[in-house]
Amino acid sequence: MPHSVLIGFAVLVICHTSQAGYTKFPDGFTFGVATAAHQIEGAWNVSGKSENVWDRLSHTRPEMIADGTNGDIACDSYNRYREDVEELAYMGVDFYRFSFSWARILPSGRVDFVNPDGIRYYHDLLDALAEKNIEPLVTLFHWDLPQTLQDLGGWANPKMVDYFRDYADLCFKEFGRKIKSWITFNEPYEICEDAYGDEKKAPAIDSHGVGNYLCSDTLLKAHAEAYHLYNETYRPTQNGRIMISINSIWYEPSDTNNAEQVTLAEVANQFKFGWFAHPIFTEEGGYPSVMVENVAQQSAAEGLPKSRLEQFDQYWIDRIKGTSDFLGINHYTTHLITGAGVDPIAKSPSWLKDIGAVTTMNVGGESASEWLRVVPTGFANLLRWCKSSYNDPPIYITENGFSDRGTLQDYGRISYFNDYLSEILNVIYDDNVKVLGYTAWTLMDNFEWRAGFSERFGFYFVDITQPDRPRTPKLSVEYFRQLLATRELPQDERFKDPSMRRL
Ligand code: NOJ
Repeated sequence: MPHSVLIGFAVLVICHTSQAGYTKFPDGFTFGVATAAHQIEGAWNVSGKSENVWDRLSHTRPEMIADGTNGDIACDSYNRYREDVEELAYMGVDFYRFSFSWARILPSGRVDFVNPDGIRYYHDLLDALAEKNIEPLVTLFHWDLPQTLQDLGGWANPKMVDYFRDYADLCFKEFGRKIKSWITFNEPYEICEDAYGDEKKAPAIDSHGVGNYLCSDTLLKAHAEAYHLYNETYRPTQNGRIMISINSIWYEPSDTNNAEQVTLAEVANQFKFGWFAHPIFTEEGGYPSVMVENVAQQSAAEGLPKSRLEQFDQYWIDRIKGTSDFLGINHYTTHLITGAGVDPIAKSPSWLKDIGAVTTMNVGGESASEWLRVVPTGFANLLRWCKSSYNDPPIYITENGFSDRGTLQDYGRISYFNDYLSEILNVIYDDNVKVLGYTAWTLMDNFEWRAGFSERFGFYFVDITQPDRPRTPKLSVEYFRQLLATRELPQDERFKDPSMRRL
């Protein structure tokens, strides 16, 4: 049964290991690799696909992309998906997480016209995965909103709840026979804060302190409606699972003995992770109380007659609560809190100013991405915090990964995976955190949003100077392959950086 890997396990069998630390994953723990449509597919304007917000941004404001690239061809996965599947099969993954391009399936964004080529493409991909016994884990929305819907206000438009529900309905109906694991939204924080409260992501609306909160209102309602639709209409016959993937930058106090910093780190985690997790995963529901209070206070200080963060009424609190079968976590890094006040980079008003804390990235080893510092212990702390804050939910790590500039001997990536995976084992065995699966970001170097191809997260190197986008395996492919074959952290010397070996 190809569709049984990700779902339906009640018990994890615990196996302990050597004094050197845990190395063996529990029976039933699953591993996968992730991508997203806009980052890999290319074929941006062929076979009926319409323009999405990232096409628009990278074409009209190319200076916003670090290396001036775009997703027009990307990894050409629209044409080369069979190569993708071969690579996945070679690595031995249990599942492949990828996303649907809304604009490829519904060019107007609405269900008035369903694009047959878009439907065919995803069926072909799903069939190719099934042939290799690789389970699909499909994200409905990974940031590439059809521009037609952005023209109507995008996620700041309450009507988007219906448009997303209709799109989800079509996908469940059309593909639900082949897909047993769904993710509604990838990283709601990035969608709302970075794209509507800032210019860091498309459509770069930069309505700081306002648009970001309008977006979260719509997005959480849209998520809940898609969940209920699946739960009531499709789950009885399709027997699948549906969740949301929430991203974290985990905040820790710069000085763990400083009580103010400890309190502020908790506030920051509630603003970042709790913004989307609290409404779904707590008994109480709704936004975290500290968030409600802080934004209300700031709004009053700004002379506004009401808070910029509108609270959900009881109907929506109840409707949103409990709408995820698992807690999906995308995690990469930890930042520090150094004290109270307005962060020097905060706009006014803004989400960051509403937190009321000063942050720094000055922690851990570096990667090619400024924001990504290597802090494995922060991952364990986040996971323990999720267990205690959200009533011990079953968790899937839906992304985790490391960027460099594209070297084939990617020891930095290997040691990142090894150290972060080791922390997962620690919390499974020592703290009984229910982590059931792990997804590495990403199959191949791809269009890293505003960083273009300048920051590379892939297992496979992609040569974007060649029209056929040749892929070359990095050393991490062998590392992951061995991990998957043995379900144990590889101990081979060949995976250790030679310069470190000599030390
Ligand atoms: C999270 C996003 O989901 C993904 O699209 C992105 O490429 C990675 N983080 C790395 O930044």
